[in-house]
Amino acid sequence: MTIKEAIAAAAERLAHEPIGPPRMAAEALLTFVLNRERAFLFAHPEQQLTAQQRSRFEDVVAQRAAGKPLQYITGRQEFWGLEFSVSPAVLIPRPETEHLVSAALEKAAKINRDDLRIIDVGTGSGCVALALASELPEAQIEAVDISSAALEVAKENAQRLDLATRVNVYESDLLGEARGVFDIVVSNPPYVGRCEADKVQREVREHEPEVAVFGGEQGLDIYRRLIPQAWDKLNPGGWLLMEIGFSIEEPVRELLKHWNGVSSVPDLQGVPRVVCARIPRMHH
Ligand SMILES: C[S@@+](CC[C@H](N)C(=O)[O-])C[C@H]1O[C@@H](n2cnc3c(N)ncnc32)[C@H](O)[C@@H]1O
Repeated sequence: MTIKEAIAAAAERLAHEPIGPPRMAAEALLTFVLNRERAFLFAHPEQQLTAQQRSRFEDVVAQRAAGKPLQYITGRQEFWGLEFSVSPAVLIPRPETEHLVSAALEKAAKINRDDLRIIDVGTGSGCVALALASELPEAQIEAVDISSAALEVAKENAQRLDLATRVNVYESDLLGEARGVFDIVVSNPPYVGRCEADKVQREVREHEPEVAVFGGEQGLDIYRRLIPQAWDKLNPGGWLLMEIGFSIEEPVRELLKHWNGVSSVPDLQGVPRVVCARIPRMHH
């Protein structure tokens, strides 16, 4: 079987599943099995697969057909132009979350000090903390999560990206173990409500970690706890930035009614994605 034939057969098989563009998935899986760049497939369409490559490819195509997310099969996802390792212990970084990174960079520029202290709460793969570290060479960045399995992945990514000395990764229930005060608290918390679990894609529900996806009955549990904790741990004028799910902007804003400068950042579709709030200068 040639590369071209293998892709066509896999695309045909994946087309029967409601899991996204079949050809792209087939190409990505074959790229992974051959350990090559995608361009290799187009440069060598007539190359024969070895028996081993063929059986490995059939195996990963079957996993994908059964709904396992592509990123958990390949173990990779790009975020903010950086390559992250992912495993089923962490949420797969989403492009929407790049809005959280850009909002944090914008606030960091406003605070306009080099030695900012920033903490990423619920870091998962570490994508937000590490993207910020890559952009803010002088900042002191901490990354916490309640899942020790996720923290292993975050640490591995810190090493891979050569940022391990810059980002302090440790276990904490929200800000419970965090010491000192911060200039920016960022978080992409679990925000899907149990009440809307049936609207979540099957792939997410069955494969991504529950603790990374669900935030209580309405999706607000983590916001209810994190907002008052951040109030106590932010420097005067510091910022809290949180990603939000699409139906919870109003209740999250309600929880921020004592804060200053509350605003939402829309994504490219105009859906509010990030809520920003500033601590009043005299608050303690
Ligand atoms: C939506 S995921 C976000 C992961 C990553 N920051 C990202 O944006 O891709 C939420 C993360 O919060 C973590 N988490 C859930 N409850 C937590 C808690 N009480 N304290 C700390 N982290 C928590 C989960 O383990 C998960 O890694």
